[in-house]
Amino acid sequence: MKYYTTVNDIKDLDGLIHEAISMKKNPFAFSDLGKNKTLGLIFLNPSLRTRLSTQKAAINLGMNVMVMNIDKEGWALEMEDGAVMNGSSVEHVKDAAAVLGQYCDVIGIRCFPSLQNRKDDYSEKVLLKFMQHCKVPVVSLESATLHPLQSLADLITIKQNWKEKRKPKVVLTWAPHIKALPQAVANSFSEWMCQADMDFTITHPAGYELCEDFTKGAKMEMNQSKALVGADFVYVKNWSSYRDYGKMLPVDSDWMLTNEKLKITNNAKILHCLPVRRNVELSDEVLDGNNSLVLEQASNRLWAAQAVLKKMIENKSEQLNTFLKGEEIIHY
Ligand code: CP
Repeated sequence: MKYYTTVNDIKDLDGLIHEAISMKKNPFAFSDLGKNKTLGLIFLNPSLRTRLSTQKAAINLGMNVMVMNIDKEGWALEMEDGAVMNGSSVEHVKDAAAVLGQYCDVIGIRCFPSLQNRKDDYSEKVLLKFMQHCKVPVVSLESATLHPLQSLADLITIKQNWKEKRKPKVVLTWAPHIKALPQAVANSFSEWMCQADMDFTITHPAGYELCEDFTKGAKMEMNQSKALVGADFVYVKNWSSYRDYGKMLPVDSDWMLTNEKLKITNNAKILHCLPVRRNVELSDEVLDGNNSLVLEQASNRLWAAQAVLKKMIENKSEQLNTFLKGEEIIHY
């Protein structure tokens, strides 16, 4: 595996999940695989889970790890090709990425969207620049539009908590928040649920429709109560508007998830990627209740990252990345 940026980069999804679960059972089975290989983790935005789970995953595989909060510790990056750099930016991303590629065998990059310019964000401008110029395998640690390591952990968590023969009903519900957040986790979860062929419903207030590129195969239900009927898993997440890009739109009913609302579900298990705004997105009683899977989900981030890194350092087969075909962006 050369790039891990979307579910479409995975040839064998069941195989990857199997690999992650086998890592969970035996974390150090491949502790020599990454010997003398270096993972560089580059953050343009904050992180707790992604940073530490990916770092630990690499250590379990015997890799060396370097971490840089490039937004705070690096030179101010210029992203525009052909820019006359006589302003505040000090180093062009093409130079920075090329240099990082000299030091690392695999690079992880976190680059959130601006939420100002939809075209720029949804073209994955920053991620692509790193991928084009570093020349080594790249794993997305959450990009402008997707969070594939999170989604792999989410899918592992659902699979391990579902024993029935029928497909589980999975509901992604929009939740309130005090600030505008990216659509990446919701886009990504939707993309993965559709790929995994779940019975999948998305519910949100008017104006919060996600980009259709990621929701093909999902059922849409604008009424949260109707959506929750019979749910086996409920994924709670806020996102800002895609249509009125990056905006928080007025919402006329209470979308915070409570135990009362969950009574109509099939004793649903609860997921959230964290960090979470308690008693804003969902109540303490839900988060701390017996049906909450949030800690298991966060724990599974480790096995998701370890399975992906293992595939990358094995590098058994070359792959054509979804985002890259020469210089052309084909995903959007
Ligand atoms: N869920 C998640 O990606 O958490 P962090 O932002 O802390 O990495």
